[in-house]
This record gives sequence, structure tokens and C-alpha cells, in this order.
Amino acid sequence: MTVLEVLSVASEAFPLVKTGGLADVVGALPAALAPHDIRVRTLLPGYPAVRDRLHDVREVARLPHGFGGPATLLEATAGDLDLLVLDAPHLYARAGGPYADATGRDWPDNLARFAALARVAADIGRGLVPTWQPDVVHAHDWQAGLAPAYLAFGTGEHRPGTVMTVHNLAFQGTFPADTFPSLGFPPEAFSLHGVEYYGQVGCLKAGLALADRLTTVSPTYSAEIRTAAHGMGLDGLLRERAAVLSGILNGIDTTVWDPRTDPHIAAPYDPKGIAPRRRNTAALQGRLGLTIAPETPVLGLVSRLTWQKGIDLLLAALPAIERVGAQLVVVGTGDAEFERALQAAAAAHPGRIAVHLGYDEALAHQVQAGVDALLVPSRFEPCGLTQLCALRYGAIPVVARVGGLADTVVDANPMALATGAGTGIVFTPDSVDDLVLAIERTLRLRRDGRTWLAMQRRAMATPVGWETPAQHYAELYRALHADAGRRR
Ligand code: ADP
Ligand code: GLC
Repeated sequence: MTVLEVLSVASEAFPLVKTGGLADVVGALPAALAPHDIRVRTLLPGYPAVRDRLHDVREVARLPHGFGGPATLLEATAGDLDLLVLDAPHLYARAGGPYADATGRDWPDNLARFAALARVAADIGRGLVPTWQPDVVHAHDWQAGLAPAYLAFGTGEHRPGTVMTVHNLAFQGTFPADTFPSLGFPPEAFSLHGVEYYGQVGCLKAGLALADRLTTVSPTYSAEIRTAAHGMGLDGLLRERAAVLSGILNGIDTTVWDPRTDPHIAAPYDPKGIAPRRRNTAALQGRLGLTIAPETPVLGLVSRLTWQKGIDLLLAALPAIERVGAQLVVVGTGDAEFERALQAAAAAHPGRIAVHLGYDEALAHQVQAGVDALLVPSRFEPCGLTQLCALRYGAIPVVARVGGLADTVVDANPMALATGAGTGIVFTPDSVDDLVLAIERTLRLRRDGRTWLAMQRRAMATPVGWETPAQHYAELYRALHADAGRRR
């Protein structure tokens, strides 16, 4: 097979910079695609967190256009990632997050910051780097959404195929119309089939309108986003483009998430010998100040603390969690009101509710290895990764029936159990009552030790790695490339 060259364009990539699952996916896909003879180079903004961890740095191009300051394109590696980095200090060299300052306020020049990234991606697609040209440009989320648009409205011989992946339709990158002239598009690009979106500039919309192929991160989400209820204003466009839209589930890195070898956990275990898991439960209870009680059921949540994730539903379910005698562990960061409410709940229930506010990779592993069940009460969830980690660690996922949660967890209903199936609990989304019923059902199943153990074993045997998704992406790239060949 010929090697296919792909430029992946994104605003975050694990382990360099991460605010959510996008980073995990962008960080893991390149290695997963290598066995398929797909070579991926990843274009990232030169934030300090990225700049500080580069190896073998070489300058490959000085950028001609006015980005409002000097800008260079670097070639570098970081771990097993092969990177191109847009080094533009006036855009990226700041303390704070990739999208917002330390107080959580979005950077006022976010459009300029990510339009520059997209524009450089398109330039690379057209041959900016003398020694390397991609066959496919793969844009992730709104921050890269203008890349297919710059390629579509640009000129020149070679145009690589383009893929736009939606990781979350809630973030659309919409900006006032008067920013349009700053983007360097021809005037006709401000149109229904271009970057215009309800009278404004829409970065995600542009990518969805102009990329050759569209993907999202689960089959169910790819259907949901074509409905008015979940389409967030883009459902019409997505229905129009349904023929080129597909849903490819995410995987997780099964070498990082491996309960047999995980360096973060007290007692390693595998599906054949789950008993040591109890030691992880005790260690988790000890670390977080919960009452160390092996028989007490422990529920967990590892998440951004936002409306999407149904944190208000969890808060409303706290009295029921107390009533059924379970402990609760929450690890996350997010909206201040949720953080405050969770902290107040922990203060009111010492020994029973523990809340860790902050991002803590090791603790996330310890939660997965220690809790009996992981709650994911999302209102919408394009894919979700924490339920995949939970499956892998034998923490039974209790998930809302939306998006990728519906596609990855098999509900342990009576007939599933009768046929030897069922890996978790799936409940109707967006309802406190259904969440409470799901928690009660979880605890009933847990009391039946044999059924529970069989569920844990099946959960741990679920194929949550990147093998199948990588194959789907490889097929997509190759089909796209073959089409492009026919067009030429
Ligand atoms: P989203 O991208 O919508 O936030 P995902 O489930 O796709 O949701 O990905 C979230 C990722 O971030 C997972 O890898 C999860 O383990 C991790 N994560 C979320 N919050 C924390 C936290 N407070 N500490 C450590 N890891 C976290
Ligand atoms: C988004 C979604 C999440 C998905 C992740 C990676 O942040 O909210 O469901 O797993 O992207 O695709």
C-alpha cells in the first residue's frame, strides 16, 4: 500500500495541551494510523506548553502574510508525535489556557489566533513546506474549521482532500460579520455556501460546508446532529451533507489505560483476578478522606463540570445517593456554581462525598480503578471517553442514552443478562428521576455478586482501543484520496 500523508490540525493534543477529549483523540490517532501506512503530522499553535516540550526543532518556513506579527512554522517532535508548530508569539505566547485567560475569559483575539492556524494549514496543503505535502488535511473542531474554507477559496494546482471532524457541536466559533475582511477571503466567501453563518462568521459552519468529508465521533451523534433537537442550528446543513457525513467512535490508549500495569493505582488487576480492585477502592477512600468501608458502594464522576455533563442532575440526585447509602467521588473542573455546590455537598457529608476540584490525571486513574460505578449523566455526548476508561477498568458505567454513550455501553436489562450480555446501565437522559432509578438499579445489580462480576468481566473485555476506529479513518482517507485522484 502506498503511504498516505495526512496533516491533522487541532488546537490541543495530549500530552502537550489538553482541556478535554479532543486532545486525547488528536494525540492518539497518529500512532494508531501508522500500521495502516498513514503518516500523520499534527499542526498545533505554539503555546508555551507546546514550545517548551519540542525536540529536534527546525524552522521550515517564515510566513508571508500579515498575521499581525512575526510568525514562523516549526517542524519538531514531542514523544511519538510528528509536529508542525505555528510559532507566533503575539498570538500564543501567553500565560493561561488555550482558549481563555486564567480567569476563564475567552481571549479577545481568538478568531485571529485560530484563523491563523487554519490558514497555515491550508498553505501547508498547498505546498508551503518544500519537503512535504499532505494528501489529506484533517481539521478538528471550530478552531481548525476555516482550513477547508481557505483551501476551497484558494488558488493553485494541488488541493489535498479535506476532512472536518466535529468533536462537539456546542462550540461553533461564531464571530461578528465585521471581522470577515480581516480573514483574507475573497468577498464571495461570505455566503451561504461559505463562511457566513446567520449573518456572522462561522468557523465550524465553514468547515462543515466546505470539507470533502465530515465525521463526528460516534454513529448516534452523527444522527442526532441532523435533528433540530441536537443540531444546534447546523442540522439543516448537516442534513444537506448527510451523504458525506459519518460517525467514527473514539478509542482510548489502552497502554495508558491498563489496569494490569497502571503505575497510578495501588493494586494492579486483570479480568481474571478482579479481587485486588478492593484495595484500590480503599486507597481511593483513604486519599480523599472517605470512610474506608469495603462494602459501601462507591460511585464516581470524572468530568468537566458543565451543563453538557448534567452536573445539575447529579446535584439534584445527591439526596437519593445518600438515601441508598453510597459514597460519591467527583473529580473535575468547570463552572464556578457547580464547583461551589459540589464543595458545599462534600462539606455537608464528610466521609461520604469527596470532591476534588482540579485536573489530576493520576487521580482520574485511581477513580476508575476504585469506584464500583462511574456516572455519566450527560445531556449530550458526542463520544465520551470516561465511560470507555470505566469499561476497561471494570467500573460499571451508568450513562445517559445519548451520542457515544449509547453506542459504547450495553444496558444490563433482564434479557441482556439472560443472554450473557450487558456492560453497564443506560438511562433516559436529562432527567433526575431516571438518573436516580439508574443508580438504584446499579446498586441492586451490585448486590448480586455473580451477576456483577460477570458484568465487570464483560465490561473489561469491551474493545475500547483505537484498532477499529483507526481502520475506519484509514478507509475514509483512502476513499477520499481515490476520489481526488479521479477528479484530477
Ligand atoms: P470532554 O472532551 O467533553 O470533556 P471526554 O469524556 O471526551 O469529555 O474526555 C474527557 C477527558 O478528560 C478524559 O480523558 C477524562 O479522563 C479527562 N478528564 C476530565 N476531567 C478531568 C480531571 N478533572 N482530571 C483528570 N482528567 C480529567
Ligand atoms: C468532545 C466531546 C466528547 C468527545 C471528545 C473527543 O469534547 O464532548 O464527547 O469524546 O470531544 O472526541
